[in-house]
Amino acid sequence: MTAAWWKNTSIYQIYPRSYQDSNGDGIGDLQGIISRLDYIAELGFETIWISPFFSSPQGDFGYDISDYYGIAPEFGSMADTEELIAKAHAKGLKVVLDMVLNHTSEKHPWFLESSLSKDNPKADWYLWHDGKGKDGKKPPNNWTSIPAGNGWQYSESRGQWYFCSFLPFQPDLNYRNPEVKEAMLSVLRFWLQKGADGFRLDIFNAIFIDPDYSKKNPFSFHWFPTKDMMRARFQKRIHTINHPDNFAFAKEVRSVVDEFPGDRFLVGEVFGAHPVVRNYLGEQQEGLNLIFLFDMTLFQFNANFFRNQIETYNAFYPAPYVPTFVTGNHDYKRSIGRVRGNLTKAALLAVLQMTFRGVPVCYNGEEIGMLDADIDKKEALDPISHAYWWVPNVIRKLLPIPLNRDEVRTPMQWTAEKHAGFCPNNVKPWLPLASGDLASRNVQTQRQNDKSLHATYTSLLKLRKAHSALQSGSQSLHPILNSKSVLAYWREDKTETLLVACNFSAKSTTIKLEPKLEAIWSSVDHLTPKSDSPSTTLPPFGSLVLKSTT
Ligand code: GLC
Repeated sequence: MTAAWWKNTSIYQIYPRSYQDSNGDGIGDLQGIISRLDYIAELGFETIWISPFFSSPQGDFGYDISDYYGIAPEFGSMADTEELIAKAHAKGLKVVLDMVLNHTSEKHPWFLESSLSKDNPKADWYLWHDGKGKDGKKPPNNWTSIPAGNGWQYSESRGQWYFCSFLPFQPDLNYRNPEVKEAMLSVLRFWLQKGADGFRLDIFNAIFIDPDYSKKNPFSFHWFPTKDMMRARFQKRIHTINHPDNFAFAKEVRSVVDEFPGDRFLVGEVFGAHPVVRNYLGEQQEGLNLIFLFDMTLFQFNANFFRNQIETYNAFYPAPYVPTFVTGNHDYKRSIGRVRGNLTKAALLAVLQMTFRGVPVCYNGEEIGMLDADIDKKEALDPISHAYWWVPNVIRKLLPIPLNRDEVRTPMQWTAEKHAGFCPNNVKPWLPLASGDLASRNVQTQRQNDKSLHATYTSLLKLRKAHSALQSGSQSLHPILNSKSVLAYWREDKTETLLVACNFSAKSTTIKLEPKLEAIWSSVDHLTPKSDSPSTTLPPFGSLVLKSTT
């Protein structure tokens, strides 16, 4: 039996607003994506995940949906969506839509109706509760939201509070109401019928919160969100994140996608400790097919960090579980910033991403080493930045996660032109370009250079496709070659054994290899490496992939 396609796939995230503007309004759109499908297919990614383009007032740029069956006009129409799915499929690409199950926009007709009174037909569709104090004007409890504002918002019309896991205009749906569950599962079925190959599930771990509102979230010393997002604003979110009912719901959602042929799949945005979040995958792999593992977004550039990751993923996600290698997305500072924009180090990160066990998830622009923008908070469009209006720019720069996500969502850089080929030169793009180095960090320039980061990605994706051991083989540390600066690991399946050796040092390093290893990829000349084993010199931050010939 061949493995389900999603186990071996590679995912490319498209942030539609910033990918390609086709109609000259400074906002990326679906026709823009269609015009770039050849680019993605040539680059070698197999699956595209597109951030939400459904009807939305765009308060959170699409993550606040007002109609799950409609398309926001700035992105296009239903016909464009159908065309996009059909054309992507014709090129062999899978299409993953971004589904926000946890909350709707406050402008969604369900919420408008729900907030009218306590006894309308949708009265129980959201998480309503009476407040405290004699006039009920105090929130029901101390629960905060994920961005660390107040979780509860007051509605004058109902004289009650509603819970928001994210921002105040994104009210949480009440999944303990079977009608809500049915309505949202119908949305999934609708898009599966349209040909979606799967869904990325937005903040899936916030869908069910504790039904007992008398429980308080305990005190924690952290004000800013911790790496695992479980603590913030002096609170540990034990009742509002990763409630066990979410694990059971993962299985229910999976059974819906399994109604459809072709191994449709689910990848969940969840966060928390590994022993907790792996519950989303189910004991028998009957939960979400994949979850995003965000450890790598905050990587440390040294061999030891990645050695630990190999061991962590082997311990918590042994086969048949499939880990993911996520270097960034539209919410994180771009990973290249962690190596100060250094393209050689970024290439080494790409080697790791494409040769580690698990599904690589790449955010558009990473393949050309796009940098973050530097945008003054006064100019910010991102509602998170507004929520943190009081944090000065200097502090923002020091934080590992961005408070103004505009900085990581700037237009894709296709050319070295004024607006990077994202939109016409006489039109203002919705966000400014990333800071600096447009001359070399654009697709056109890098495609002409067979040593560019883009060329590294392309050749690595080719290599991955050609070697089943890279797609689904086991991963284990080489017993001798590992050192302070060298990371070396085997990838092995029934048909082949490969060795990946990476040099994390700024000096050339010679490694002594077993005989009968033949280089099949090198960071210097990609798919046509010169073979000089058994003793091989790895250039500064260089790497080699070798195949055992025995
Ligand atoms: C997820 C999305 C983020 C959005 C939030 C609320 O974290 O990635 O962009 O703002 O959920 O939907």
